Amino acid sequence: MIIEVGDEILNDLKILKGNFIFTKEKDFFEIHEKSFLIIKNKRVLGIYKNLPKKYEPIKVKDYKDAIIIPSFVDLHVHAPQYLQQGVGLDLELIDWLNKYTFENEMKFVNENYAKKIYSAFVKDLYDNGTLRSCIFGTIHNNSNQILIEEIKKRKISAFVGKVNMDQNAPENLLQTTDDSLKETIEFIDNNSKEDLIKPIITPRFAPSCSLDLLKKLGDLSVKKKIPVQTHLSENKDEVKWVKSLFPSNKNYSDVYLKNQLYGMEKTIMAHAIYLEEEEIKMAKNKNVYLVHCPDANINLSSGIMPVTKYLDMGIQVGLGSDVGAGHMISMTNTIKSAIQSSKIRHIFNNNERILTESEAFYLATKLNGSFFGKTGSFEKGYLFDAIVIDSNQNVIKELSPLEKLERFIYCGDKNDIIARYLEGEEV
Ligand code: GUN
Ligand code: FE
Repeated sequence: MIIEVGDEILNDLKILKGNFIFTKEKDFFEIHEKSFLIIKNKRVLGIYKNLPKKYEPIKVKDYKDAIIIPSFVDLHVHAPQYLQQGVGLDLELIDWLNKYTFENEMKFVNENYAKKIYSAFVKDLYDNGTLRSCIFGTIHNNSNQILIEEIKKRKISAFVGKVNMDQNAPENLLQTTDDSLKETIEFIDNNSKEDLIKPIITPRFAPSCSLDLLKKLGDLSVKKKIPVQTHLSENKDEVKWVKSLFPSNKNYSDVYLKNQLYGMEKTIMAHAIYLEEEEIKMAKNKNVYLVHCPDANINLSSGIMPVTKYLDMGIQVGLGSDVGAGHMISMTNTIKSAIQSSKIRHIFNNNERILTESEAFYLATKLNGSFFGKTGSFEKGYLFDAIVIDSNQNVIKELSPLEKLERFIYCGDKNDIIARYLEGEEV
């Protein structure tokens, strides 16, 4: 090993003991039973079956039979829709937006209301072990700032977006193009100095933005090097609507591409179910993440992303809870739903393979984590972001570490998480 251990350096190190599980590659779990993981300067230095002698003076935090896995990353979630979880899910996308979602988001003009909802939302992320996420706020900057303060208080990490809309929504959720742009710039400038929390440019989706606004947001993203998050091809009626609103573009993705909102900077495209062949080819771009939101897609009867087809073509697919179209914030639930959704596609089309458990776990940890840098794995040099899981159900002790993880994904909950680490610190 690389270190020459002087007393000073020893003090910088932390050592945890337990059963470490992660996915360096998507096709299999790496399991280190009853091993020691050493953290130096926020990052993983190495995992050892036997602790090298030189580290013996350092106190070891022993988690015994617990499993320790990378903490979760959610690449698509709407904070203001926290109270919408499970409510009004009989409608399809456009009616759901008009009947429930826009009405709900108007309430965030009120800062007291925002504080109440956002503190509960952020607590739920934290409780469920989602220590990094890409979040939509609303158009209201005062409330967006409250969301950021709540995230800061929990010492977790996020990209947060001020939502942009200048058309096709109720009057009091619309801003002029100029105000929408101006407030986006203010939001970015006010929030660019934080380490763990960063701004992200957030045109809601093509229908709610004029061509002028899309173009100005794209210019801003390129000029200030700010990533982008939006929605793409979630619902068949939405795709038709985009074609009628933007007749000179080749397809939905092209509306974003032509306005520098697709792949110039890191880009999240949530849903991406009904892509044309040409769009699928375009998606093979190292800056583009197509984010699968399986629960939201079933809840709004939108469809199911062909996730294994995309993965086998080398496209980066992420995972999102998409609360409130998705009904649960927990990423174990999203992992399980992604697997089940792929099985439904497989049942109806045998040629499509299912998403394996290790793949779905990889998406929620290492792949999603790559949006934030080197996190989501316990390889050497990765930021140590982790959760420790120890079910208080006594019989679980009979299971192997991998079986404990499988059980946690399908049957566990936030109460099984006994510790959370972000960048090497317990939070
Ligand atoms: N498309 C535009 N806005 C939204 C939203 O809030 N949720 C989902 N699921 N799709 C959208
Ligand atoms: Fe969404």
